[in-house]
Amino acid sequence: MQVGIDFGTSNTSIAVYGPDGADLLMLEPETTSIPTAVFYGAESGEYAIGTQAVSAYESGEEGRLMRSIKSVLGSSLIDETTEVGRRRLPFRDVIVHFLRRVISNAEALTGQRVESVIQGRPVSFNDRHPDLDKRAQTILEACLHEAGVAHVEFLDEPVAAARSVKFPGGRERLIFVVDIGGGTSDFSVVRISADNAGFDVLGSSGLYVGGNDFDHKLSFFELSRLFGNWETLELNGLVAPSAPYSTLSDWKSLNKLYTRDTQKLIRWMILNSPNSKGLQAFDYLVRNHEAHTYAKRTEQIKIGLSAADQQTFVYETADARLEKQVARKTFEDLIDEALSRMDEVASECLTQAGVSPDQITDVVMVGGSTFIPLVQARLAGRFHNADVSANDRFGAVAKGLAVHGAATARR
Ligand SMILES: Nc1ncnc2c1ncn2[C@@H]1O[C@H](COP(=O)(O)OP(=O)(O)OP(=O)(O)O)[C@@H](O)[C@H]1O
Ligand SMILES: [Mg+2]
Repeated sequence: MQVGIDFGTSNTSIAVYGPDGADLLMLEPETTSIPTAVFYGAESGEYAIGTQAVSAYESGEEGRLMRSIKSVLGSSLIDETTEVGRRRLPFRDVIVHFLRRVISNAEALTGQRVESVIQGRPVSFNDRHPDLDKRAQTILEACLHEAGVAHVEFLDEPVAAARSVKFPGGRERLIFVVDIGGGTSDFSVVRISADNAGFDVLGSSGLYVGGNDFDHKLSFFELSRLFGNWETLELNGLVAPSAPYSTLSDWKSLNKLYTRDTQKLIRWMILNSPNSKGLQAFDYLVRNHEAHTYAKRTEQIKIGLSAADQQTFVYETADARLEKQVARKTFEDLIDEALSRMDEVASECLTQAGVSPDQITDVVMVGGSTFIPLVQARLAGRFHNADVSANDRFGAVAKGLAVHGAATARR
């Protein structure tokens, strides 16, 4: 059997192609899109993936939660190991473990062996170092082989998204795809033939910025203030060091907060600012291993701001309650610079394709971050003659990968 795998920075989906077209697999009882997360239990040495991984961590079970593992592929961390319980595990093994489990779940659901995979990839795993970008794909392919898959083919995620949509026939369409997920933002101009069968990629561009960076901005510049970031320490007049707040604001590095060095640093800060409620709360958060809970709550505030003008962040320690109102406008100001970079990269894609915005007939938006109203306005607003397709923003990439796989197999 052949499947399409959208291995996302935040979420993963798998689709198969059947008699009625591409279908997403229910990888968990309620959902087709599961968190790209692995939890290693300290006691058992066993691991869980998806919602189970996140829940195990949240229930306080001792162990190590790994998220954003795709981001590691394009970074130099991929050659490193990470401490899991008493052993050190190479990051690539974490990716293999995740893929192996998700593939075996797909096999259990369909009753068939997964022999061949159409694997989505961002336009760029690393937009600064082309060599790391190339390497990331080679490593991902090796990980899939190690997870038991014999044949692997890659397709850019935004191209897959375009292939997932059935456009009204009768004329050729010029599609602009905006794919903004957790880790990357990708754009493509895809020409689809009048019968929806043929496709050409006229241009593609991407950058390594996505929803996780929005979480980072919201955390580092707003919410971490509740925990002492940007404070002046009472006794020595120095500004609190930003490094631990930077760590707190990055999904990939959350576990680093629990190192002895960070705990020593926090103790030093409290010694120099004994009355700071924020620092005490920070100490509480680190001692109780609540960094993922904090990061998740930060993400929820961001998601809430897509639908409402205002959100309230709350964090309680044993003896204090911290609360902060965040207005949508504040969040929009924080992500403005990132959106300008996305805008530039989207323009490069149009230039590469030799297409003007007015020629675009359809806009396909995928990825959770496209729910942000300002993202929609900035990135889709320039296409005056285009319809915005009403596609599934989370499942389109996996479905398109399956469609592509079926079309390639027919040839
Ligand atoms: N309603 C929403 N408003 C704002 N952001 C959202 C919303 N829903 C989800 N997100 C964000 O979308 C991101 C996840 O989207 P998605 O599942 O498409 O990413 P991914 O495919 O895992 O990542 P990538 O494609 O970059 O590898 C997360 O950053 C999440 O916080
Ligand atoms: Mg994605």
